[in-house]
Amino acid sequence: MSLLNGKRGVVFGVANERSIAWAVTQAVVAEGAQVALNYVNDRMARRVEPLAASVEAALCAPCDVTDDDQLDAYFAQVSEVFGGRLDFVVHSVAFADRDDLLGDFSATRRAGYALAMDVSAYSLLALTRRALPLMTEGGSVLTMTYYGAEKVVENYNVMGAAKAALEANVRYLAAELGPKAVRVNAISAGPVKTLAAAGIPGFRDMLKHVAGRAPLRRNVEPAEVADAAVFLASDRATAITGEVLHVDCGYHVLGV
Ligand SMILES: NC(=O)c1ccc[n+]([C@@H]2O[C@H](COP(=O)([O-])OP(=O)(O)OC[C@H]3O[C@@H](n4cnc5c(N)ncnc54)[C@H](O)[C@@H]3O)[C@@H](O)[C@H]2O)c1
Repeated sequence: MSLLNGKRGVVFGVANERSIAWAVTQAVVAEGAQVALNYVNDRMARRVEPLAASVEAALCAPCDVTDDDQLDAYFAQVSEVFGGRLDFVVHSVAFADRDDLLGDFSATRRAGYALAMDVSAYSLLALTRRALPLMTEGGSVLTMTYYGAEKVVENYNVMGAAKAALEANVRYLAAELGPKAVRVNAISAGPVKTLAAAGIPGFRDMLKHVAGRAPLRRNVEPAEVADAAVFLASDRATAITGEVLHVDCGYHVLGV
């Protein structure tokens, strides 16, 4: 039986075929879901539209998460194409200026800190608030985080602070929305070679380091992150909320 048969979901954050959001899109569609996708600007539209067409997405429209008008317009379209009902939202969006990832954390500029927080953490609230009126039969909200929220990871800097805020957002939203049967969870994925990851200085060394030390002695595949996303979006996870699920080949359990 398909795990997401008849479910309707929004997946935010497909930039190209390497995006974690694209692996998630393919997996949820394979399990019977209908999806709505977004792209952040016209340059991205050219890459995302063919991918959306290949999975017969119900919607593929512009939405920059820092723009409230675009968010309102996007969710109005979601309501229209899905007949006023939404079952899940996958938030797979983050951004920081490269200058704010490198060097001393204490040197992070005020504007760079605010931008990283806005795009990578606040946006979960912005999406959830607009999805909520459509989750008439309960729902699942899922975001993507990283170990740099919990421990110091070299060159992750402002994004570590943003991911820590994002994980706190998950807990506060879970507590608020539980009575409406809306579950809110995060996946803490191990490093995956994507466009966003390319912005992290020394990312290649990080992949090598994890593959050598993680209990499973390898890096995670995007399809494995997607499988966990399918589970959390599905009715097999109806008692799980406020959780940060590590999908990282076990790396997070290591000490010295
Ligand atoms: N790649 C990794 O190693 C890794 C590990 C753990 C968690 N994550 C997280 O997974 C998520 C997806 O990243 P990815 O690695 O697939 O990279 P990606 O570059 O493919 O995806 C990031 C997405 O964020 C979108 N985005 C950036 N600014 C935006 C804005 N203002 N409005 C709307 N969308 C915007 C981009 O367009 C892109 O689609 C991120 O939250 C990232 O932090 C990634």
